[in-house]
Amino acid sequence: MQADTWQGQVPFGMSKSILVTGGAGFIGSHLVRRLVSQHPTWHIINLDALTYAGNLENCADFAQAPNYTFAKADITDAAALEAVFAQYNPTDIIHLAAESHVDRSIEAPMDFVLTNVVGTVNLLNAARKYWAGAFEGKRFYHVSTDEVFGSLHQPGTFFTETTAYDPQSPYSASKASSDHFVRAYGNTYKLPVILSNCSNNYGPNQFPEKLIPLMINNIRTGKPLPVYGEGINVRDWLYVEDHAIAIERIFLDGNLGETYLIGGLNEWKNIDLVHHLCQLMDRKLNLTEGQSAKLITFVKDRAGHDLRYAIDPAKLQRELGWQPTVTFEQGLEKTVDWYLANGPWLESVTSGAYRAYYDKQYQTA
Ligand code: NAD
Ligand code: DAU
Repeated sequence: MQADTWQGQVPFGMSKSILVTGGAGFIGSHLVRRLVSQHPTWHIINLDALTYAGNLENCADFAQAPNYTFAKADITDAAALEAVFAQYNPTDIIHLAAESHVDRSIEAPMDFVLTNVVGTVNLLNAARKYWAGAFEGKRFYHVSTDEVFGSLHQPGTFFTETTAYDPQSPYSASKASSDHFVRAYGNTYKLPVILSNCSNNYGPNQFPEKLIPLMINNIRTGKPLPVYGEGINVRDWLYVEDHAIAIERIFLDGNLGETYLIGGLNEWKNIDLVHHLCQLMDRKLNLTEGQSAKLITFVKDRAGHDLRYAIDPAKLQRELGWQPTVTFEQGLEKTVDWYLANGPWLESVTSGAYRAYYDKQYQTA
């Protein structure tokens, strides 16, 4: 939609203007697709800085939708954020923009402080200023991670909404800090906040630095499959569209001021998951059984590597009736099929070619 037709107002015929941050990234693009298609009277403004992880190709199929607008802005830039608020006057915010990769946080922690902490506080300040105490009907939804709870060591234990925070990596410390700021603004300024913490996502459009797309891409190109340490760490995997559905449910019907944990009760030891993926890839690529697994290479462990994450999603299931719609078998097959059908996407994001293209296209936006 043309921005100048709705300067500072909810556009005519629309019931909401929802600012989604990070909508050109992995989870954000799936969420925006769902909101744009399921809620034609909601105007979705996708605010994204288009970092290495943000890619407008992820939004190409809904870019022309009448209830969708893209706004290039960096959440670390308070003035740019204020300009977006002044122009689009959002009724709600769903905040996903973040630096999201643990290994990068170990290399460059300050990037995580700036985007995840300072950027979140900038967004809270902008919401506070522009909503000016008129909070009725508004929501500031902060999307967070289960990593804020640290690492589980006792078998059979799970993270719940009451688990104490114990972040162990610069990434999880920055997300924990942002969660604390969101709750503090809810308490202090009565900002209408709501939060969720989700387990590991997988699915189409995930940047191939994360475990599952990295392994798929490396099998596809015959490169080693780097398994950290002994591969004994456990993650709880959820298909990305089921995370998007959970966010939609919480946004619609969750209780303000509360937190919801999202997970699909689907724990895998890394090495088992990689073997499982290798078998699937052998089948999909018509390789001899066991061929992909020959690429598995054990490498130096991640510093401070969390042993196990596992979510108890009982509150979300009980109060909001959410359940995953996709089994792990179905989700993994859809994911592999998508990556195998989208070789050019993989090549462009790994070469960085898309960066030059979009930097040029949006330099004056
Ligand atoms: P991603 O890295 O794929 O995408 C992040 C998006 O944020 C990109 O489009 C990027 O351009 C944008 N962005 C980064 N810095 C920005 C800035 N300064 N200003 C504006 N935009 C900026 O991340 P993801 O995996 O889709 O994760 C999205 C959110 O969900 C994050 O907050 C993350 O912590 C959380 N989360 C992720 C997972 C997971 O498994 N991936 C699980 C639970 C929670
Ligand atoms: O739990 C939610 C979190 O899941 C999100 O908040 C993060 O944004 C997301 O990146 C993810 O964090 P992880 O560190 O768990 O994901 P990653 O895909 O990087 O790694 C998954 C596991 O696989 C982890 O135990 C490390 C291991 N691993 C990862 C890579 C990239 C390897 O063994 N080899 C690898 O090359």
